[in-house]
Amino acid sequence: MVFMDFFKKIKCLRLFEPSLAIMGFLVVAGCVIFSFFLLDYKAVIKGSRFLGQSDRPLRWKLDEPGVEKRIRKIDFLSDEGSRCNVFEGDWVWDDSYPLYQSKDCSLLDEGFRCSENGRPDSFYTKWRWQPKDCELPRFDAKIMLEKLRNKRLVFAGDSIGRNQWESLLCMLSSVVPHKDSIYEVNGNPITKHKGFLVFKFKDYNCTVEYYRAPFLVLQSRPPGGVASKVRTTLKLDQMDWSSWKWRDADLIVFNTGHWWNNEKTTRGGCYFQEGSEVKMNMTVEAAYKRSLQTVLNWIHREVNTSKTQVFFRTYAPVHFRGGDWNNGGHCHLETLPELGSSLVPSNTWDKYDIFRNVFLAYSNKSDVEVLNVTNMTSRRKDGHSSLYYLGPVVGPAPVNRQDCSHWCLPGVPDAWNELLYAVLLKRENLQLGNLTTINRHEF
Ligand SMILES: *[C@@H]1O[C@H](CO)[C@@H](O)[C@H](O)[C@H]1NC(C)=O
Ligand SMILES: *[C@@H]1O[C@H](CO)[C@@H](O)[C@H](O)[C@H]1NC(C)=O
Ligand SMILES: *[C@@H]1O[C@H](CO)[C@@H](O)[C@H](O)[C@H]1NC(C)=O
Ligand SMILES: *[C@@H]1O[C@H](CO)[C@@H](O)[C@H](O)[C@H]1NC(C)=O
Ligand SMILES: *[C@@H]1O[C@H](CO)[C@@H](O)[C@H](O)[C@H]1NC(C)=O
Ligand SMILES: *[C@@H]1O[C@H](CO)[C@@H](O)[C@H](O)[C@H]1NC(C)=O
Ligand SMILES: *[C@@H]1O[C@H](CO)[C@@H](O)[C@H](O)[C@H]1NC(C)=O
Repeated sequence: MVFMDFFKKIKCLRLFEPSLAIMGFLVVAGCVIFSFFLLDYKAVIKGSRFLGQSDRPLRWKLDEPGVEKRIRKIDFLSDEGSRCNVFEGDWVWDDSYPLYQSKDCSLLDEGFRCSENGRPDSFYTKWRWQPKDCELPRFDAKIMLEKLRNKRLVFAGDSIGRNQWESLLCMLSSVVPHKDSIYEVNGNPITKHKGFLVFKFKDYNCTVEYYRAPFLVLQSRPPGGVASKVRTTLKLDQMDWSSWKWRDADLIVFNTGHWWNNEKTTRGGCYFQEGSEVKMNMTVEAAYKRSLQTVLNWIHREVNTSKTQVFFRTYAPVHFRGGDWNNGGHCHLETLPELGSSLVPSNTWDKYDIFRNVFLAYSNKSDVEVLNVTNMTSRRKDGHSSLYYLGPVVGPAPVNRQDCSHWCLPGVPDAWNELLYAVLLKRENLQLGNLTTINRHEF
């Protein structure tokens, strides 16, 4: 009997065998196809490292419309999107980028025009920042200009801030048909110089301004009676002289960081001062921290944040390999981002941490929106001007004189401005009161 039962079971199973086999086949086939997809995608990422300079070898599976749909995420501007940290994510290949071409934009320093200066590859213009948990609104220059109508937008900071400012000028001017309706109000050219530049978009009665203030605090002559090696001092408790011009702007975007090192301060005879006292032994880190406190106190004290929206962009890492800017550090062979991790100097995170700690302590007091770009930017070793900052006539610079701190345009700073745009729209939605919770991310 036991044997018969067993036999029957076998027969039963046999009846099912064909359909089981078909199902099994389908499952296995599905797995194989899916793993081909994964393998192919990974292979593209790995393989493209060796693909050389031709322009369109990469076919990103993720860009195919069907796949795109499946991974569609929530809209950052929606109520749900409030929980999304837009600074956490990945760089994804996007054939619809860049947003403009440098040759079509006259509002750009020669130093940022990499492709015109001989940079052979253009992959670096093709990456879009994709937050992990949501979709950013696509940058729309007309909408941005409407938001800026009758307003002043000020960038204050070092030349990386200038990099971002020029990026925004190009992004905005791309939709203005009459380019001569955009002009510097004092007639100054955009070429490198000290001080400030104010570009007006006449049709929108708005200005987009840049103030050179690499330390944000005041650098000036030392008090009397100090050691002769003290040539200038940074008054860590006073704002840069031009701060009175920013104070009443409608939007301010701050940045600082690149000048806070020994080379640009004490080694050049620039020491730190608080009150009337020159602090000969003060470290750069301590001074940097002190200056950030001064900036935040100033915002709290002087800026009406009901009128003026204040943004602070975090430090943008440099990518010198095998040295520094003056002794052979290089980045000119980099043509792809670091997907996932990043290899940047450890002082990148020191700078970020100092900033983070100061802001944490002030998060109660001041309404400052942080553009937390350090991490995302650290992965873009491919985006720097490297050898291509000298203009088309001179051509590439000598290999031992590279610029691995500024960015080619179009390029990485465009993404910072897309985030600025997204955060602006988001804040507007919040102010319109149709969102219930304001979710500010922990710093
Ligand atoms: C908030 O209101 C504005 C204007 O009415 C609208 O455009 C926007 O889509 C709204 N946002 C949400 C999340 O409902
Ligand atoms: C242009 O914008 C400024 C503010 O930046 C404002 O004071 C002025 O009234 C505006 N002019 C017109 C014609 O709207
Ligand atoms: C600065 O440091 C040096 C040696 O580290 C010390 O001799 C000097 O007294 C210090 N000066 C001040 C003002 O603290
Ligand atoms: C701050 O700005 C708001 C909006 O423009 C204005 O209503 C308010 O009076 C200003 N506050 C001060 C102290 O100027
Ligand atoms: C923020 O404000 C709350 C309440 O006023 C206070 O308890 C808290 O300590 C403050 N946090 C910081 C970091 O100052
Ligand atoms: C940068 O971001 C990535 C991905 O979100 C994370 O894994 C990594 O730990 C971050 N790096 C630092 C130094 O915060
Ligand atoms: C800044 O971004 C990095 C990752 O992109 C994240 O690890 C860090 O927590 C972020 N900080 C804030 C305040 O969002």
